[in-house]
Amino acid sequence: MDNLDQIVSEAQSAFAAISDPDALEQVKARFLGKSGQITELLKGLGKLPPEEKKTAGATINRAKEAVEIALNARRDAIRKATLEARLAEEALDVTLPGRAEARGGLHPVTRTLERIESLFHSIGFEVADGPEIETDFHNFTALNTPEDHPARSMHDTFYLQGSDGKVADGVLLRTHTSPIQARYMQAHVARYGQLEKMPEIRIIAPGRVYRVDSDATHSPMFHQVEGLWVGEGVSFADLKGVIADFLRSFFESDDLKVRFRPSFFPFTEPSAEIDVAFMSGPLEGRWLEIAGCGMVHPDVLRIAGIDPEKYTGFAFGFGPDRLTMLRYGVNDLRLFFEGDLRFLRQFV
Ligand code: FA5
Ligand code: MG
Repeated sequence: MDNLDQIVSEAQSAFAAISDPDALEQVKARFLGKSGQITELLKGLGKLPPEEKKTAGATINRAKEAVEIALNARRDAIRKATLEARLAEEALDVTLPGRAEARGGLHPVTRTLERIESLFHSIGFEVADGPEIETDFHNFTALNTPEDHPARSMHDTFYLQGSDGKVADGVLLRTHTSPIQARYMQAHVARYGQLEKMPEIRIIAPGRVYRVDSDATHSPMFHQVEGLWVGEGVSFADLKGVIADFLRSFFESDDLKVRFRPSFFPFTEPSAEIDVAFMSGPLEGRWLEIAGCGMVHPDVLRIAGIDPEKYTGFAFGFGPDRLTMLRYGVNDLRLFFEGDLRFLRQFV
């Protein structure tokens, strides 16, 4: 029966070549299954003469045992190898460095906004807020810019689309923070209008604003910080003093030129735009407009319910993104909003 020895060694090498437990069971069937080679030989015993049956049966069974031993040994080996692989994979390497907590930082424009808030806070300004989706009334009409007023075209407005696909009537993305002036004055009058002497209004209002605009000094989403001071005897000289002090503190520099350039806004009279230029550094000698300002127009006070004969005020609207450009010497404002961490990390 050399055939048997051959079957056994075939089985041994077939098992040895396998490392997957399911595949091993399939190969087992080739030898020990219902019509496996060994099983077939056992079935053939019946045809042998009785005297041969006994010895042949014993030989086949020895071979069967040898195949089973090889099979079990291989099963054990596979199980052990699988376990070892898993242990190695899940092992905890205590020598690896720990995972550091990612440290965030404030966006440079946020730092500017916080700086502006704290500087104005120190001279008695409170922070006011308003909605970014604004009514046409507060964004324009209450600021002395009625419908069909040519000044509306100074702002390229984003209008909103209703679910019917048409432009939603009466609402828009605010184009400036000035509507907060209108809202705050109305609320102030509602609260204190009955008093003989109305308490002063002294607020700044930082926030996001939107215009169809994009170049190195314009972004479609940008920030403004509105300022408003209304009281008895508030003058243009006060406006100039407040702005000059603010800019000197903000930039911590005297190496700075500031100019008030006569301009027009429907809600202030007289009006000016404020330009600054540095006398040294990367943006040396380049004038950049950073704010609009002026004395609050009597009609705007009247619309809010404040008597312009009794009270006067000034207002301004800063572009803090531009202040950030100047402070850090960046020449394209859109870089601040691209979300590139390599750029933003420099300011942390
Ligand atoms: C206004 O928006 C007026 N509401 C400002 C004002 C307030 C005047 C109160 C009088 C009284 P203007 O459109 O110039 O004005 O914008 C004000 C400032 O916002 C600009 O000086 C500039 O610094 C900044 N700014 C304007 N458009 C953009 C833009 N697309 N991207 C970045 N900054 C901008
Ligand atoms: Mg302007």
